[in-house]
Amino acid sequence: MAEPGKSKFQIDLRRHLRESDVEDNLVHLICEIAEASKYIINSIRTGDLGVAGTSNLYGEQQLALDVLADRILRKRLDHSRVVANMMSEEEDEIIPISPDCEGKYSVAYDPLDGSSLVDVNLAVGTIISIFSGCDLLQSGRNQVAAMYILYGPRTTLVYSTGNGVHEFSMNHLMEYNLVQENIQICPQGSLYSPGGQRNLYTPGTEAFVQQLEQRGVKLRYSGGFVPDINQILLKGQGIFFYPHLQQKPKGKLRLLFELSPMAYLVEQAGGAASTGHGPILDLVPEHIHERAPVFIGSKADVALAEKFIRDMETKQSQKAAAG
Ligand code: F6P
Ligand code: MN
Repeated sequence: MAEPGKSKFQIDLRRHLRESDVEDNLVHLICEIAEASKYIINSIRTGDLGVAGTSNLYGEQQLALDVLADRILRKRLDHSRVVANMMSEEEDEIIPISPDCEGKYSVAYDPLDGSSLVDVNLAVGTIISIFSGCDLLQSGRNQVAAMYILYGPRTTLVYSTGNGVHEFSMNHLMEYNLVQENIQICPQGSLYSPGGQRNLYTPGTEAFVQQLEQRGVKLRYSGGFVPDINQILLKGQGIFFYPHLQQKPKGKLRLLFELSPMAYLVEQAGGAASTGHGPILDLVPEHIHERAPVFIGSKADVALAEKFIRDMETKQSQKAAAG
């Protein structure tokens, strides 16, 4: 007989991971992160909205909620017994947990992305990138798993261990149940989420946006990276970009905590993620807090952005060479 409140047809996160033959320690790690998210939800719903009085490495003021979400995840990972190294967007350095890397994982995470949206009650999320062993400074292609949890009107968890992208939704018992397996993003979309200030876009990005607008693509931008990517994955189409800006050639978003895990998920769903010059997952970070511009979502739309950027740069260099 099914347990009360549970349909016997529901597949929860642990069962899904097990049935997908995910390695035991990785199952444990992903489930521990899912557990931590329940405490993070609670702090978002009822916690202090004020500032913590500290700032992170990027000079951004930390909210009490940023610090709390960081602490919740950090403690959980620390006690999981399967983590070698971890690093958080809210910390300055890699945090070593176990010198013995055998059979363990290293985790990069953004505990509460978009936290400045909490006071206006918009959606925020947690982003996670997982590597096997000790090394966190490697190409995103080597991730063994990536996931995010979106705290919106409902709580959504999306993960991949390299075998498709799967969506879970939290039920009234705070369990994550499978909604959709093997999410796919179609090659061309009809929505766009443009980050950064348009008057600072380079000519290539501006020409790309104009082309999208002529095509009748609709603007769908929330200001939060997790809900914006979730929209593309679950609608199965669209493009998000936070491009290189004039005077800000690396854009805003952080490679290890934000871009690599989302690029992994989107590629797993048949989409693409590019800096405008090549795949995000091919970048090898030199330092932990590296940033990169990003164009991510439907494959043909990302390729079109790359084409406009390349063509415009070629034109500019030909012009410069001609004097
Ligand atoms: O890195 C955090 C973040 O808040 C993302 O969630 C979002 O996509 C982006 O920054 C928004 O940036 P801006 O504040 O420049 O619009
Ligand atoms: Mn962030």
